[in-house]
Amino acid sequence: MIKPFDFALPTNIKYGVGIVKTLGEELRLLAAQKVMIITDKGLVNAGLVKKITEEIERAGISYIVYDEIEANPKDYNVEACAEKAKEELIDTIVAFGGGSPIDAAKAVAVLSRQGGKVKDYQGKGKIKDNCLPMITIPTTAGTGSEVTFSSVITDTNEKFKFTIKSTAIAAKTAIIDPELTLTVPPGITAATGIDALTHAIEGYTANCTEPIAEAVGLYAVEYIAQNIVVAVKNGENIVARDKMMMGSLLAGLSFSHADVASVHCMAEALGSIYDAPHGICNAILLPYVMEYNLPSAEYKYARIARAMGIEEENDFKAAVKGIEHIKKLSKEIGLPGIKSLNVNPDDFELLAGMSVKNGSNESNPRKITKDGYVELFNAAYNNPY
Ligand SMILES: [Fe+2]
Repeated sequence: MIKPFDFALPTNIKYGVGIVKTLGEELRLLAAQKVMIITDKGLVNAGLVKKITEEIERAGISYIVYDEIEANPKDYNVEACAEKAKEELIDTIVAFGGGSPIDAAKAVAVLSRQGGKVKDYQGKGKIKDNCLPMITIPTTAGTGSEVTFSSVITDTNEKFKFTIKSTAIAAKTAIIDPELTLTVPPGITAATGIDALTHAIEGYTANCTEPIAEAVGLYAVEYIAQNIVVAVKNGENIVARDKMMMGSLLAGLSFSHADVASVHCMAEALGSIYDAPHGICNAILLPYVMEYNLPSAEYKYARIARAMGIEEENDFKAAVKGIEHIKKLSKEIGLPGIKSLNVNPDDFELLAGMSVKNGSNESNPRKITKDGYVELFNAAYNNPY
């Protein structure tokens, strides 16, 4: 029997090459009068934010740009941004960027209307419905944050990443235009692409998953695994960029309706302590967690392998080949090992403790303890693939 489940999709998805030109129209539908574009300095300097401001100007709507969001967005980033939004009487947010600006914007949508500190909203049922309306526009194929209802923020005092989650923080509309990713550098394409692959695999295999999340997760694996190398090596290839963007969207839908699992528990711990790029942390850890999970996820890992193009009838052999294929992909697109993050093995106990406390730990398809996490960090450190 299929277990009962809910599948809410509060975000209207507008997808397609060149669709960013409909931003003005979408803002008018939301009756926007004063918009805050939440982004980062890299996107301003790359000239990409201009594509957005041009559309808002064409629509005759007033706006400000807030570009102080850092990678692994910090509690103080969102609290300062929310203050600015209140001061400027902002009525609509346009979140523009990779996962960091979009996650930060979701927290700003809450704080600017409901006050307090972002940490106050951790846990279930804390966020009320009256968040600022938001349009999300992703510039990387990775995060899926444009359609998810969660936001991961770093508590800078405790050095711990925490999640706030509610359908109230979902975007009203996600405008997803693969053309915006054409100029993303190879290293970021690789790291964000493996983040998306991890979302797809964890969304498909999480304990709490359901058939819709499984279906989109598995389909996302196919899009991502079969296009990531071309997207990294030939960034101008719009066909590969298009498929990566769709893969990232499907993966986002999958994990937001299921959950992520141990790869993200470990990656978020690494990101909290070392401020390391999220996608690279996932890429480093994904094969080790899959090897650990294999006894509990053989059938699904076999289907993942086949979605990646591996022809093997025996489930166990297919699953093993799939894990090897993921290692090969990460190497081929130039992703570094754990030592590149200058991690100190003395921290593995601490990192394992953080991983086991992560809200997604229970979603891992195979039960894992703190000692199990220590072993996985050691495996990644001592046996790099
Ligand atoms: Fe992620």
